[in-house]
Amino acid sequence: MKHHAIVCRCEDITEQDVIDAIHQGYTDLEELRRKLRIGMGPCQGRVCISLVKKILEKETGKKVSVESYPTSRPPVIPISLGALAKKTRGENETKS
Ligand code: FES
Repeated sequence: MKHHAIVCRCEDITEQDVIDAIHQGYTDLEELRRKLRIGMGPCQGRVCISLVKKILEKETGKKVSVESYPTSRPPVIPISLGALAKKTRGENETKS
């Protein structure tokens, strides 16, 4: 039976994609994250990680700790809010 339910909306990953990956040998959250990009979308896994954890536990019969799931990473180059908000010449200006 195929499981077409979407598990990770951000990366468009179905329950069947997760099950297939587990059967291929990706048997922890970090491996599944790297293989399927689960948890790498805009929500950073808030929606999908708990669902993937349940699927992983069901398929492997092992208890999975979410604490082993990597946390989100900060940006590579820090940038101030002032720099983000700074308006450049000609940007966001309306002609009058
Ligand atoms: S639903 Fe998976 S990263 Fe957002």
